[in-house]
Amino acid sequence: QENSKDSTFFHGKEILITAGPTQESIDPVRFFTNHSSGKMGYALAEVASKLGANVTLVTGPTKLPTPPKVKRIEVKTAEEMYDQVLLHYDACDIVVKSAAVADYKPIKTFDQKMKKQDGNLVVEMERTKDILKTLGKKKKQQYLVGFAAETNDVIRYGKEKLAKKNLDAIVVNDISQEGAGFSVDTNIVTFLSAKGKEEIMPLLSKSEIAKKIFVLMENDMKDGTL
Ligand code: CTP
Ligand code: CA
Repeated sequence: QENSKDSTFFHGKEILITAGPTQESIDPVRFFTNHSSGKMGYALAEVASKLGANVTLVTGPTKLPTPPKVKRIEVKTAEEMYDQVLLHYDACDIVVKSAAVADYKPIKTFDQKMKKQDGNLVVEMERTKDILKTLGKKKKQQYLVGFAAETNDVIRYGKEKLAKKNLDAIVVNDISQEGAGFSVDTNIVTFLSAKGKEEIMPLLSKSEIAKKIFVLMENDMKDGTL
């Protein structure tokens, strides 16, 4: 049961994966972003594709190549990601939201480059739409998986997000630990499901984690439906 390499479970399934950071511009040359490399999301897309799924990857700006047979859709802002994800959502069987979406964007994006002034600069920012929460509200057949990077109280915050966003599962990582989180090739994550599964994984490569996540998802989706 812990091995899905011979499984046909994901064959032909429509899987939407989001990856990478978003960029929220303040003028034509400057933007707000975060340290997401996209590696976790691209690893998930590669595994899903190898398992025979039809994979759409909605990605913020990254330096990564598109995994074989994956349909790549490039976006920059949280709003563009929202639009693309919602456009594809109805047809999806599974959505995995590993993108690090900006929570705030500048209230105004200037058409021309801002010139520096004497004194301090205060940038007013407003909230972006929560894509995952919207998906949770609209959920029908979809199995919905969120990601969360935390620095403390990892399991507690993970469970809160699982419930608040109406997810089926969430993958939480403790980015305060060595070898976990942004930019590196490894991660330390815990998989929590709405059905109560709690799987703590050791330090692993992002590609190993991606494989394990699909095994856990398969088992969780089958659990109770047989
Ligand atoms: N997420 C999203 N849209 C946003 C913000 C987050 O879809 N505008 C998704 C992320 O892709 C991730 C999940 O929500 O799958 C959790 O993101 P996280 O930043 O950990 O949680 P937040 O709800 O934004 O809470 P906070 O940043 O305050 O911890
Ligand atoms: Ca956030």
